[in-house]
Amino acid sequence: MARVRAAAAPRRPAAGSAPGRGWRRPGRILAPDPAPQPDPWPDPTPPASVYLAARGYAAQLAEELRRAGLPPPIWHGRLALSPHPPVPAAWALEVWTAPRLLPAPSIAAGADQLRAIQRNWALVPIAHHRRSRLIEARLPPVKARPLRFPEPPPTSHLGAWTLLRPDLILASPTKTSPFPQGEARFVEDREGPPSRAYLKLWAGLTRLGAHPAPGELCLDLGAAPGGWSWALARLGAQVVAVDKAPLDPRVAALPGVSWRQESAFALAPEPVDWLFSDVICYPPRLLALVRRWLDAGVVRRGLVVTIKFQGSTDHETAAAFAAIPGGLLFHSAQNRHELTFAWLRPAEGGGKPAP
Ligand SMILES: C[S@@+](CC[C@H](N)C(=O)[O-])C[C@H]1O[C@@H](n2cnc3c(N)ncnc32)[C@H](O)[C@@H]1O
Repeated sequence: MARVRAAAAPRRPAAGSAPGRGWRRPGRILAPDPAPQPDPWPDPTPPASVYLAARGYAAQLAEELRRAGLPPPIWHGRLALSPHPPVPAAWALEVWTAPRLLPAPSIAAGADQLRAIQRNWALVPIAHHRRSRLIEARLPPVKARPLRFPEPPPTSHLGAWTLLRPDLILASPTKTSPFPQGEARFVEDREGPPSRAYLKLWAGLTRLGAHPAPGELCLDLGAAPGGWSWALARLGAQVVAVDKAPLDPRVAALPGVSWRQESAFALAPEPVDWLFSDVICYPPRLLALVRRWLDAGVVRRGLVVTIKFQGSTDHETAAAFAAIPGGLLFHSAQNRHELTFAWLRPAEGGGKPAP
């Protein structure tokens, strides 16, 4: 059993970022990821699970694993290595479910080891970047084409790997996400939607494996300026957008879109096919709203909501969302300091466990 070092919260920037600065994302600076260690996993027994955090969200994943009762994992950049079997982890973009250690005395030998296991591998580059890329160049190419929503995710088998040391690969032939580095990417529309928030909705519906059909009634809470309403109208759905602020006029003019200038929290549950919310509010308030609508039994097909955290992360409320039967709680590459909760009525195939 490997010795587990305490490395919970990220303290230093990842290799490649400026000292004292976090990862830059448009408009803001993210928390730095844990720095790669020279020999993060000296034990010959491989970790039993590996979790990949989104850039800047290792601290949230560390706290979630702690609350799940796991001792602190060993961090290799934004990869959390644990000697314990996988547990559900909303803050992980993906979980590597069958990790193994492969000696890589040379670039060719490393690539041969991976190819001997299976064809498709996605690199998570953390350290030893040049050598990693040289090994990757000897592997069969993996086409990571962006999805044209509502196209389903790829079904081809995909593993993940990284270099722990120049001569040691950590690889998992299986993982919970079909996408390289757990990130679904989409062909974006830079003309139609008034904000990029629709990408979060696309990620949620793709993960759920379902989306509104033409003519279905969708209630879009916190809809302005209208990215989600635009995406729903594009599917042919009937969209009732609820916000105190008005929609972008181009979205308001789309066929099937209407606007109600109300507070999402003042609405009494009414029959809808889908319920959506991107309202900015405290997580417990959103949880109460979701419970009220689900308990009323009026949501015929499913729901997708974003749980937004201001300041510290409300792990307790996140856990209460995760406990809702039939739900999925996850952090997609399109999420910032927020989680997506998605739910399908059980007859629709809900109840799939979150990875
Ligand atoms: C992040 S924005 C939504 C972005 C939107 N989903 C899009 O795709 O363009 C959050 C919205 O929640 C709205 N909001 C805040 N409190 C609300 C409430 N009580 N009821 C309805 N909307 C609310 C805000 O006015 C704001 O437009």
